[in-house]
Amino acid sequence: VSQEDALYVVSLMRTIPDFPKQGILFRDFLPALADPRGLKVLAEALVKTLPVAASDFDLVAGLEARGFLLGPQLAMSLGKGFLALRKKGKLPPPTLSQEYSLEYGNATIEMEKGSIVPGQKVLIVDDLIATGGSAKAAADLIKRAGGQVAGFSFIMELEGLAGRRELQDYPVTTLVSMP
Ligand code: ADE
Repeated sequence: VSQEDALYVVSLMRTIPDFPKQGILFRDFLPALADPRGLKVLAEALVKTLPVAASDFDLVAGLEARGFLLGPQLAMSLGKGFLALRKKGKLPPPTLSQEYSLEYGNATIEMEKGSIVPGQKVLIVDDLIATGGSAKAAADLIKRAGGQVAGFSFIMELEGLAGRRELQDYPVTTLVSMP
């Protein structure tokens, strides 16, 4: 990914202070998706910055909601399938669920039981890593389902929130890093 492309995407991102809570600097990447060149750069960047070779995973998993905007098109361009990790209460039973804490609260993610063939290797995709709470929960869920976590791809990393440390057992790549 060229410096110019990375800077272009960053220039499209929006920063909102005190959302959704006092003291949180919210980073919104949706304006970058709404821009034709931004969308293309993001889609291509994910393919170019994979943390492991494409031959080293079988499935791309995305976290609701913003991981759903990136995961399926990445999976499609690599000839993989896509696995949706959803917020609590959306999926029909039987499900596996995992609770976690995030930068601004607590949450639970779920997956449909049986959606991973034991031993399948999974790449997890999301727009942003902050504390790493949801990413770690996704990894735990995939392992409980019998899968192996191949690595993580993010568009953005928030510095100083220890997300990387949470995922130190896995290969991780991010396109850009922001305070
Ligand atoms: N998710 C967790 N922390 C966030 C932040 N600061 N901005 C956007 N999404 C987030």
